[in-house]
Amino acid sequence: MCRKQNQSTIQPISASTSELKRTMKIFLIGFMGSGKTHWGRLLSEKIHLPFFDLDSVIVETEKKSIAEIFAQNGEEFFRYKEKEVLEELTNDHDHFILSCGGGTPCFFNNISFMKKNGKVIWLNTSIDVLKERLLKERMRRPLIKAIGDAELKAYIIRKLSERRMYYEQADTIVDEEKVSLNSFLEILDT
Ligand code: S3P
Repeated sequence: MCRKQNQSTIQPISASTSELKRTMKIFLIGFMGSGKTHWGRLLSEKIHLPFFDLDSVIVETEKKSIAEIFAQNGEEFFRYKEKEVLEELTNDHDHFILSCGGGTPCFFNNISFMKKNGKVIWLNTSIDVLKERLLKERMRRPLIKAIGDAELKAYIIRKLSERRMYYEQADTIVDEEKVSLNSFLEILDT
């Protein structure tokens, strides 16, 4: 269900769980459609940690949708903004669950920054499930909105193979299709 990376270096949370939770920064990473926002909301309600969605914070800051930012300012501008908001949010809050964008760990030093500041969890979802989810909600995602149904699977395979090396640096890998709320909560406690 989940594979923990570098087990020997991760400190178990035991008697002082509640104290540690106060300074817990959890970063959910994974491909578009991997369930980052869904799980982030669910977990944050359960353990009473503030929840942030990185794309939503960027939208609030820029007063434009992600699609508008890509169309008007370009991807490079978006990636700078993404890095800036990630760092500000992380530095300004002691504890949170943050649902990142699919590309967040793959640009600049974002993955090392997140690992240095908290616990990074990769929601690993199969290509077929990603495809089914993304077919239904493609329009708000600028990277895939122009890709036809027939090409979407090939796009996911290609993009995921480019990004896997970043996702794999997560502290913990969760099999998103098998994990339950309870087992996810246990993962947060280790
Ligand atoms: C992106 C994923 C999107 C959003 C932007 C770019 C990506 O977030 O940040 O469209 O590069 O994979 P979601 O993963 O929440 O769709």
